[in-house]
Amino acid sequence: MYRRDFIRTGAALGVAASLPFSAFGSTQAEKARIGFIGVGLRGRNHLQNLLLREDVIVPAICDLDPDALIKSQELIGKLGHPVAKTYTGDDYAYRDLLSRSDLDGVIIATPWLWHTRMAVDAMKAGKYAGVEVSAANTLEECWDLVNTYEETGVPVMIMENVCYRRDVMAVLQMVREGLFGELLHARCGYQHDLRHVKFNDGIQPFGDGVEFGDKGVSEAAWRTTHSLYRNGDIYPTHGAGPVATMLNINRGNLFSSITSSATRSEGLHRYIVNHPKGGPGHPNAKLKWKLGDVITSNIETSSGETIIVTHDCNSPRPYSLGFRVQGTAGITEFDTHTQRIYIEHLSPEHEWEEMDAYLEKYDHPLWKKYGAYAEGSGHGGMDYFVDNAFVEIVKRNLEAPLDAYDAAAWSAITPLSEHSIENNGEPQDFPDFTRGRWMKRKPVFALSDDF
Ligand SMILES: NC(=O)c1ccc[n+]([C@@H]2O[C@H](COP(=O)([O-])OP(=O)(O)OC[C@H]3O[C@@H](n4cnc5c(N)ncnc54)[C@H](O)[C@@H]3O)[C@@H](O)[C@H]2O)c1
Repeated sequence: MYRRDFIRTGAALGVAASLPFSAFGSTQAEKARIGFIGVGLRGRNHLQNLLLREDVIVPAICDLDPDALIKSQELIGKLGHPVAKTYTGDDYAYRDLLSRSDLDGVIIATPWLWHTRMAVDAMKAGKYAGVEVSAANTLEECWDLVNTYEETGVPVMIMENVCYRRDVMAVLQMVREGLFGELLHARCGYQHDLRHVKFNDGIQPFGDGVEFGDKGVSEAAWRTTHSLYRNGDIYPTHGAGPVATMLNINRGNLFSSITSSATRSEGLHRYIVNHPKGGPGHPNAKLKWKLGDVITSNIETSSGETIIVTHDCNSPRPYSLGFRVQGTAGITEFDTHTQRIYIEHLSPEHEWEEMDAYLEKYDHPLWKKYGAYAEGSGHGGMDYFVDNAFVEIVKRNLEAPLDAYDAAAWSAITPLSEHSIENNGEPQDFPDFTRGRWMKRKPVFALSDDF
């Protein structure tokens, strides 16, 4: 049986959502046929990673920007693949790409407001949807992802690469082996000075100007506007995703409620006023930015853990996801450059230890197997693993290791934090996107060296 039909049969029977992981059988295709929707900076990272594989064909790509399409075709040619058919010209050209019969899946790397719409359309067209982060902007969109997945039986995977970071995966192994005892608390966040991303000169993507929206390019063309109209954690999944895998969220545990608070907004205005191409007279200096510079959310889980998630992107600061994982037997605080750990009865009393030996001992089997190859793939290697997982599930007709329920629960932090801030820190309940199935669902993420 052709494997797409196989999926459709499952969906038609209405059983997909209750089937276990890998329920779609093990029909292994030799090659995954992947289309791309959005081939800007991020889409081309994925494109390159996939083109480097021998088991991927990219028959079609879609973007509105001619330059992005030209650069993608150059990449495709350089890596020895045949020219891809391009889809462009209007916002919904991607639907023509989705109507092709020779695609198994698509990677969606467009601006945030397009993610859910495109992922929903992909699932409806029977194509695996690999969607960039965040997957959704509103609670309604979160439900759209879940409902469409349940109706079609076609998997959507949230492409959260930080879940695959080497130190994050090693800490996941430590958690799973009980090194920290029972988990109690975690911290994480997206703490990244994005001022030079939010503003540019309209010609090249980073800095050298204070333009955005129609006058900006790349992320400044769309990302910055969110800071004008929204006050909440608008980019939560790089921190919350990895922590959710450690806490088995949607698989024995749930995000249950969230309270959020915001500082006032200073950073973007100051950047415009102080920039040589800006100044107090620049039209953008008159804008009132809604997004607080530091957003702090406190999430409670159904098992009684708490998680502090920070969004901090408008101030001068070095990059940091600020991870802390703490349990009844020990704690680690780790980041790209500093990593420390304390385990009762193992570490010298009341003293942090360097983490190198622990990171080596608990190195994830995936990294042991593919680490040497992965390192060139972007973001320190983690991009290789997220792309690899997507290709493998497509080839083998498997469920996504980071699925519709994860996409919904992690992305829901954005609207819920906005509501909480609007209501003076009032706690907001997370919907149970699994509709009770979290009690029986078992962890599936990165259980072996497979993908
Ligand atoms: N996981 C990560 O580490 C990571 C890193 C960077 C970006 N991202 C995410 O990836 C996504 C894309 O970011 P980016 O940096 O590539 O932005 P970008 O602006 O460089 O690229 C977005 C592309 O989407 C295209 N596009 C917009 N609307 C479209 C439509 N209707 N149909 C087809 N194409 C359309 C644009 O023309 C552009 O080329 C964002 O969601 C971003 O948050 C993730």
